[in-house]
Amino acid sequence: MLIFVIDIILRSKLRKLLAQNAENTFPAWLHYFDQLDSTNNYAMRRIDDGLAQHGEVIQAAFQKEGKGQRGKKWANDRGNLMMSLIVKPNVPADRQFVLSMATACTLARYLQAIGNGWQVAIKWPNDIYVNDKKACGVLIENIFRGMDWAYAVIGIGLNVNQASFPRELGNATSLAMASGRTFDLREIMTDIRSGLLNRLRQLSLETYPALLQEYNQHLFRLDKKTGFRERASGRCFEAYVEEVDEAGRLVLLSHQGIETFNFGTLDWVL
Ligand code: BTN
Repeated sequence: MLIFVIDIILRSKLRKLLAQNAENTFPAWLHYFDQLDSTNNYAMRRIDDGLAQHGEVIQAAFQKEGKGQRGKKWANDRGNLMMSLIVKPNVPADRQFVLSMATACTLARYLQAIGNGWQVAIKWPNDIYVNDKKACGVLIENIFRGMDWAYAVIGIGLNVNQASFPRELGNATSLAMASGRTFDLREIMTDIRSGLLNRLRQLSLETYPALLQEYNQHLFRLDKKTGFRERASGRCFEAYVEEVDEAGRLVLLSHQGIETFNFGTLDWVL
């Protein structure tokens, strides 16, 4: 009997030890840093150096020069997830929006699943909004070799455990703020990686229409009158968000009729 009890105690201690070790060790595909310039920059350097593998993740607890869309800076908070996933896209080089859609849909579906009743939407092209506030930004950088889309670096900044945002980022939220609880960054990073890799495996010419449909179902401000500013002309106008077309253009209905806009030509005025 005594041997039996000792055996149970030892086994339970061993299990705890193994669990602790699993938390402290890193899988071969993860390059984790306490601090980096930018996880996307590090991933691009690995590609340049010929070291990158499909499925590798670069994660940093803090970025000194986190990059956002259109040359903007991405603010850092140690409670948040900053990761870049390196992939070899199995998508033709002229269908870059497919990867954008796949990323946005995977993130939206994941947040929908872990949130309790959150309203999750994709703001064209690939910001993720939770309860009408920005919770996640995506910056995809590409390496083309000839006609071949050799690599993409999918940079994801997800506000996870940040408790509040400065007034100038009034439109931002975090998962913690939306739920009142904190989250495990490692678990979220691992889930997002597997979700994205699975999603990419399923991509083919046949699955693009369903992906576009899923993307449009999540579209931020769908069928709602919304303010916009056209960058080239400075024209400010209101329009209904109709859909995103297969070329990745935003289709709006304004008083001028149906208008379509390429990525980078339009600002949302919210
Ligand atoms: C945006 O402007 O919305 C895109 C933000 C993308 C930020 C992430 S954080 C991890 C990765 N590394 C970077 O330097 N940027 C992306």
